[in-house]
Amino acid sequence: MNAATKRLFIKTYGCQMNVYDSERMKDVLAPLGYVTTETADDADLVLLNTCHIREKATEKVFSELGQLKRLKQKSGGKMLLGVTGCVAQAEGEEIMRRQPAVDLVLGPQAYHKLPEMIARVHRAANERLETDFDVEEKFDALPLDRQVDGPSAFLSVQEGCDKFCTFCVVPYTRGAEFSRNVDAIVAEARALVHKGVREINLLGQNVNAYHGDAPVLEGGDSWTLGKLIRHLAKIDGLDRIRFTTSHPRDMDDDLIEAFGDTEKLMPYLHLPIQAGSDAILKAMNRGHTAERYVEIIDRLREIRPDMAITSDFIVGFPGERDEDFEDTMKLVERIDYAAAYSFKYSRRPGTPAADMFSQVPEEVKDERLQRLQALLREQQTRFNQSQIGKTLPVLVTGKARNEGQMAGRTPYLQATHFECSEDLTGQIVNVTMDAATLNSVGGHLASKVEPVA
Ligand code: SAH
Ligand code: SF4
Ligand code: F3S
Repeated sequence: MNAATKRLFIKTYGCQMNVYDSERMKDVLAPLGYVTTETADDADLVLLNTCHIREKATEKVFSELGQLKRLKQKSGGKMLLGVTGCVAQAEGEEIMRRQPAVDLVLGPQAYHKLPEMIARVHRAANERLETDFDVEEKFDALPLDRQVDGPSAFLSVQEGCDKFCTFCVVPYTRGAEFSRNVDAIVAEARALVHKGVREINLLGQNVNAYHGDAPVLEGGDSWTLGKLIRHLAKIDGLDRIRFTTSHPRDMDDDLIEAFGDTEKLMPYLHLPIQAGSDAILKAMNRGHTAERYVEIIDRLREIRPDMAITSDFIVGFPGERDEDFEDTMKLVERIDYAAAYSFKYSRRPGTPAADMFSQVPEEVKDERLQRLQALLREQQTRFNQSQIGKTLPVLVTGKARNEGQMAGRTPYLQATHFECSEDLTGQIVNVTMDAATLNSVGGHLASKVEPVA
């Protein structure tokens, strides 16, 4: 390690957007000599990339900061401590007030300013907070060159949200919807593929609201996500495309049809519905009914019968009655999910639902969550078991935890492992599945030949 090398530790909370942002912060800091380490213990710079979505997520940040303060003291004050992400955006002032050990606070659109902020801290200038909302500047200023970690990568194409679901902080922490332009996305995708990436997961809080501009020669303004995906599919060496997270309101026909006509688009869709009752969907300001959601899924399955569908659910939204919750259970039965996340409603100050009457008691939320999760676990296990006996193309992402096994992902995004003594990382191989649990499927190598998609 040469003298100029500094150690960087980033801890990431929350969604894939934060995972992507953490990667990009590493890219911004690499030219300054920062190399990532596995623990905060001896780091020169520690960044907590935070999530504000539920109360628990936010509280974690403050307790983590308390521990880091002690590490900082041990380092004789040498360690720089920064908070980034959605808590930084929403509670920047509060963080600085509650934890003076924090040297810098940066909102999600300000990461390109990290080097400048670090310089300011070193000059002891008293400007520790940067929560501007200039998202275009962020993407323009981030380096094109990305460090890659394995054959699968995230690529942000859209940020922010204008939907204002009544429970959600994202429109306040990430700001208004913004789509990157097509050229910038293609350039980043090509750079990733050049470095060995074979699967790209297009990201956005509202990714299917994508409406980025393209050069006039290529069809001009306001491309849809479907059009962008078909365009990216032309990149040689890119074999798999995914996108997340989508909103039912923006599932247009063109995007639905892409699952039928674009082989590289994987048969997997994360489409959160949150609740199965129309009254609750309305109170949440989701802008669609349960029936519309079912229609979308039916249409997708007509086009691609093996489509794996996943979702997010909130139980105990204010005013949720027993019969509303039963509608959620019925919807889950009807859709039959491959996997899903489910949460108890968490009251977020500043969002409309926080002030709604008839908040649901904690024990009712607990009971509903348990029932919902039991059903979802059953469906997920069944979905994994349904792969037994099938031979699936698996993108190998690295060694599995068990010695002598490799790990990867099926087209349905299932974690999978198979016996193999050779390091096949980065290859797409055929694996015949012979075992399944709640969280993974296991199999044996059928052939190393790249399958015709
Ligand atoms: N853009 C995505 C979701 C982003 S947040 C969408 O529109 O669905 C990820 C998930 O966190 C949400 O889908 C929701 O299920 C959950 N969530 C958001 N706010 C919440 C809150 N106040 N309480 C509990 N769960 C919440
Ligand atoms: Fe939040 Fe709704 Fe926007 Fe999703 S669509 S990020 S849940 S406001
Ligand atoms: Fe959390 Fe911000 Fe993502 S609040 S879920 S990290 S957009």
